[in-house]
Amino acid sequence: MHCTKCKSKAALKLPRHNAAFCKSCFNEFVQDQVVKAVKSQRMFGHEHRILVAVSGGKDSLALWDILLKLGYKADALYVNLGIAGYSDRSHDNVRRFADTVAAAHGATLHTHTVQQTEGAGIRELAMAVHRPACSTCGTIKRYQFNQAAVEHDYDVMATGHNLDDEAARLLGNVLHWQEEYLDKQSPSLPASVEGFAKKVKPLYRLTERELAAYCVLNKIDYIVDECPMAQGARTLLYKDVLNRLETESPGTKQMFYWKFLDKQSKASAPLSDMATKDQAMLHPCAACGQPTTGEICSYCKLMARAKRDVPHSQTAET
Ligand code: AMP
Ligand code: FES
Ligand code: ZN
Repeated sequence: MHCTKCKSKAALKLPRHNAAFCKSCFNEFVQDQVVKAVKSQRMFGHEHRILVAVSGGKDSLALWDILLKLGYKADALYVNLGIAGYSDRSHDNVRRFADTVAAAHGATLHTHTVQQTEGAGIRELAMAVHRPACSTCGTIKRYQFNQAAVEHDYDVMATGHNLDDEAARLLGNVLHWQEEYLDKQSPSLPASVEGFAKKVKPLYRLTERELAAYCVLNKIDYIVDECPMAQGARTLLYKDVLNRLETESPGTKQMFYWKFLDKQSKASAPLSDMATKDQAMLHPCAACGQPTTGEICSYCKLMARAKRDVPHSQTAET
């Protein structure tokens, strides 16, 4: 098998592009896809300060690496969720990357530790408030991402969501006809309120498999296991279904999601109008000041419940 571009020995085959690449042409392909995503969705420029949310997994570490190599000003935030066994290992991978590759580019890693600030790990907090771990985790991560971006004055918050993530999310939203979510499923969302960071997903043109290959070829160590609390999640089923379709018919995943984006960009109400409409409904949370539609934001409600219900020894005083 030979590289489609330079004809040297190929390292991997990409059926959806009907191509095969050697390491260096594959790296170029990956960078090209990110540049296309950033430009076509007007995500950010070289003058902006970007905060990459890194989990220790392949996608977000690859994203940090790619943005630094493309010359962007990209720091990162890691949220240590306090999940026994899993969080320590993912933290090690993030630290290793931050101390080597990122440090060589002069980039900084910020770390938020849930056990310290929220008083207990995600598992214990979720049990205390009787909510699924993933939704408790989502509320805390979203809040801490916003908080860190405001505190350290970042313009843009970037996450490692890839084509598989976005296609699976789209499938879920379509199956349940969740129009409100469909309207907002964009790889580039304007800041919900002035002063907050805009949210972008620069990897939406690359698949999970391509990002894993990128990490392996570039010797980026990442945590392979899924979060132990995510197992059985509906998203994994949607990904599996889409992978089966992709095997039968390469290119299905990208066609499904990219055509949706095409149609969305031609829709009557552009996302910027929707953001203005959203802003009108948002006001500062009475407890913490982050934007919310109610009086108290979901993070503050969660923390109030956790304070009441988590045994006192585990709860952080604020
Ligand atoms: P997931 O929802 O686990 O698929 O993660 C989606 C994206 O959210 C990742 O690619 C990261 O950018 C970000 N993310 C997930 N978990 C963390 C974490 N613990 N700390 C920082 N960022 C995270
Ligand atoms: Fe949030 Fe697992 S990553 S519960
Ligand atoms: Zn609040």
